[in-house]
Amino acid sequence: MQTLYIGAGYVGSCSAAVMAKFGHNAVVYDVNKERIGVFNTFNRDLIEASFFEQDLSSLIIQNKQRMVFLDDYSQFSNYFDSADVIFICVPTPLKDDDVGDYDLSYFEAALSELSAALTKRNGGAQEKYVVVAVKSTVPIETQERVARDFEKAGVKNFGVVSNPEFLVEGQAIKDSFSPDRVVVGASQEKDFSVMRELYQRFYNAPGVGYIEVNPREAAAGKLLSNYVLLSRLVTTFNVIGRTSEVIPGIQFEKLRKIITTDKRIGSYGFYNNIYAGGSCLTKDSSALAHQIESASGNTDQIRNILGGNLFHFDNFVERISKDAKFSIKGKTLAVFGLSFKRDTNDIRNSGAADMVARLIEGGAAQLRVYDPVANEMFKRHFGDKYGDKVYYCESEQEALQGSAGCLILTDWPQFSTLDQLILKVCPAPYLVVDGRRMISQSYNKLQDAGYDVVAVGSPFLKGKS
Ligand SMILES: NC(=O)c1ccc[n+]([C@@H]2O[C@H](COP(=O)([O-])OP(=O)(O)OC[C@H]3O[C@@H](n4cnc5c(N)ncnc54)[C@H](O)[C@@H]3O)[C@@H](O)[C@H]2O)c1
Repeated sequence: MQTLYIGAGYVGSCSAAVMAKFGHNAVVYDVNKERIGVFNTFNRDLIEASFFEQDLSSLIIQNKQRMVFLDDYSQFSNYFDSADVIFICVPTPLKDDDVGDYDLSYFEAALSELSAALTKRNGGAQEKYVVVAVKSTVPIETQERVARDFEKAGVKNFGVVSNPEFLVEGQAIKDSFSPDRVVVGASQEKDFSVMRELYQRFYNAPGVGYIEVNPREAAAGKLLSNYVLLSRLVTTFNVIGRTSEVIPGIQFEKLRKIITTDKRIGSYGFYNNIYAGGSCLTKDSSALAHQIESASGNTDQIRNILGGNLFHFDNFVERISKDAKFSIKGKTLAVFGLSFKRDTNDIRNSGAADMVARLIEGGAAQLRVYDPVANEMFKRHFGDKYGDKVYYCESEQEALQGSAGCLILTDWPQFSTLDQLILKVCPAPYLVVDGRRMISQSYNKLQDAGYDVVAVGSPFLKGKS
């Protein structure tokens, strides 16, 4: 089938590459010329340097013959005559993270350009039926409104469906090959049937929930799924974490084992972190709360969970001065990790990036930062904001040099052996701050060697002299 994508970000590019892999044609348009230019090189190193998502570059290169990347709308419009499904994958950030109301300006701009172009397809006759599938996360009633706007603009022979994206960054490609579920929200049988044909590899496939619902249920289901995931994380941080931080003789990992071996509970979300970050969990939960509030519903529980996430971050920062009696002012610190989690260079809503800001506000002299893939994205995003207060390092060892303490903020697997390097490069007294419990196996060893340790899910460990 002929698929078109509007927006070549994490969602658009990953979904298009997987469509191409399954034999469909994928034409991808983005207003970001630099991004399209990089994809058009079909060069692994250049794609990965700008956009790191496991296996994405290989897939694009392997399926080059079925993929087109464009930054020119008039060229893109040439494909509308034969388009079967057009996916909208543009950003829908929140205007205000605390309130949860969407900034739909990118979405509206993409739709108004699209509706004008759709009316001109097939020389204006519009005889080819086309489905517009919304992957962007939008307010629950959006599909119906988009359909009305299209009709008003004179678009004919179309359907609008909600096809929410559940990808997990860092494993988006793997998940797209074997998703837990595919959700299609439509209001006409014709649209379900087009989407079934597109996703035929998953329809009736064992282990995949192929779920057909109405558009509101699809959009609401996406927001609710992310709220449930967020609530698990925040409970882990603030309840299991706090229990093992304040009650002596309890180890976080042992509590986790007791809890997660209960099959009713399952294992998702039982890790510790400084913050539940990323572009979706908090955003979708806040947006859900805003929509329930707009319909006069009570959202105390959702708002408490969102507040609990912020509290956990603040509490962790405070422990550095309160428990370890360590003043950040004038100190050089090593920072490990900038992305919001391993296997991605996405720094949106990253606890690590927020921690960098907090340390600089607190008067740190210099942060020697190292992330295996996100340094460039961080530089691009923050530009000169931090000047020479942030020094980008090429290796863990370089970051540790001359530091009075270090913070582990992202769960890159290579950080799990940082204890050995710290012991080698940084003599005690020295502060180790572990926001991911990456080196939990060595906290006691470090303490015995004179290092102070502040870790999520552990009481403060004062270095032995
Ligand atoms: N990233 C995720 O994990 C994830 C998961 C599920 C859903 N979503 C949702 O999917 C949507 C896209 O997310 P993303 O992470 O891919 O965002 P992104 O910022 O990585 O990519 C969006 C792309 O859209 C482009 N764009 C903006 N306006 C455009 C326009 N008018 N025409 C064409 N391109 C335009 C931008 O240049 C950018 O490259 C959002 O609504 C997001 O909430 C994201």
